[in-house]
Amino acid sequence: MKDPVSVLKDYIRFPSVSADTAFHDGMTGAREFVSDLLAGAGFSVETVETPLHPIILATRGGDPSWPHVVIYGHYDVQPPDPLDLWKSPPFEPEVRDGRLYGRGAADNKGPLLVHLSAVLRLLEEQPELPLRITFLVEGEEEIGSPSFQPFLEKYRDRLRADFVFLSDTGSPREDQIVITTGLRGILTFEIEITGPRGDLHSGIHGGAILNPIQAMADLCASLHDPDGRVNVLGFYDDVLDVEPWEREQLAMLGGDEKAYAEFLGVSGFHTPPGFSPFEAVRFQPTLEFNGIGGGYQGEGSKTIIPARAFAKISCRLVPNQTPEKIADLVMKTIRERTPAGVKLDIKPGHGGSPYLVVPPRRPNTPAGQNPVLARAFDAAEAAITRSFGKPPLYLREGGSVPIIAKLQSVLGLDSLMIGLFLPEDNLHAPNESFHLGVMERGIEVSKTVLEGIAAR
Ligand code: BES
Ligand code: ZN
Repeated sequence: MKDPVSVLKDYIRFPSVSADTAFHDGMTGAREFVSDLLAGAGFSVETVETPLHPIILATRGGDPSWPHVVIYGHYDVQPPDPLDLWKSPPFEPEVRDGRLYGRGAADNKGPLLVHLSAVLRLLEEQPELPLRITFLVEGEEEIGSPSFQPFLEKYRDRLRADFVFLSDTGSPREDQIVITTGLRGILTFEIEITGPRGDLHSGIHGGAILNPIQAMADLCASLHDPDGRVNVLGFYDDVLDVEPWEREQLAMLGGDEKAYAEFLGVSGFHTPPGFSPFEAVRFQPTLEFNGIGGGYQGEGSKTIIPARAFAKISCRLVPNQTPEKIADLVMKTIRERTPAGVKLDIKPGHGGSPYLVVPPRRPNTPAGQNPVLARAFDAAEAAITRSFGKPPLYLREGGSVPIIAKLQSVLGLDSLMIGLFLPEDNLHAPNESFHLGVMERGIEVSKTVLEGIAAR
């Protein structure tokens, strides 16, 4: 097999931005690239068409009594802008100081290739390996996986497996790998406030009507309390307490708040009372403004009352909140608080995804129900300890991977998630990179896990 780093470079050269139709060819290129790799490894590869971006489904069948693992990844990436902040162009991969720079290097092209390389190496060594493997590689993860639900209904039989194996989460340090035990759910929507029929002269009409930007600013400001909690009645009603072992694991991580603040470039934190920043991102729900706009944005000034203002909002959800209920509560609150004199429109985003929790077999939990997953956790713990020098910690993450929760709620499939990207990898930002040492050690770990779950 070719050197994984040069394969990753070739893969990054396809600009597979799912959010923007201008990148259609990049999407096709990345998809064909992955399909060819899988076909070369002897998988039977199917490209499943969807209304938007096709899904790659590739299988290595075998005796029905063999264990079956689904390996998940996504071939789409985030838009690369702002382009001027990249040190090397986003789709021209470059190695600097042991890291490979390029859009998608860490999210999720590198980590997917970790598992793919592990499979290639393993099958080269053991062509008769008694393990069924299905690769499920989607192209809509970064836009909320709108095509996944119908796909799942149609292909559920092909996805009946023992568990899902993936790396689309992070670890805090190169020498402290995390097995991710949960992800936050997510809900997105956009609100628009409109006032007059068009932009107005602010001298001729100013003082007579409510300015849509002012209405939007007041409305947005009302959605949090000064202490940082979300100010929506009932928002926290269903939130479950954190399990003691989760706090213990986090304590073992021993996060340094000062270093975290410096890393982020902020002078301090703003968390709900009683939660450290490390706890807040894992254990608390949020309501965030992702974008806000309206009125004149050009150079100089322009004296107008704008006709409209908008805000893009997302909520992250924790156990046991549901996207449906939180959407109802937040939207009802926004409607009630919209002042007279302007008009409100709410556009829901993609379907919304619930939180996910995969209680690990340890620490302090009884052995899992699923023996193959239990073997996978054991093998992962041993291999991480050997390859990275320290046992993994078991922690929840703040990010979301919507389809992993769907695979659990619809098919009952739990996941083994090994965090392979690091805080310095700059996910969704300029100068994204993937640590090549983590990549090589990740391949060893993945290979050991797959070997460990094969039938004997
Ligand atoms: N790989 C991330 C999810 C992630 C990030 C998990 C950090 C853990 C830590 C994934 O590609 C992603 O960005 N997901 C989106 C989902 C959204 C578009 C529905 C997210 O979390 O914002
Ligand atoms: Zn992402």
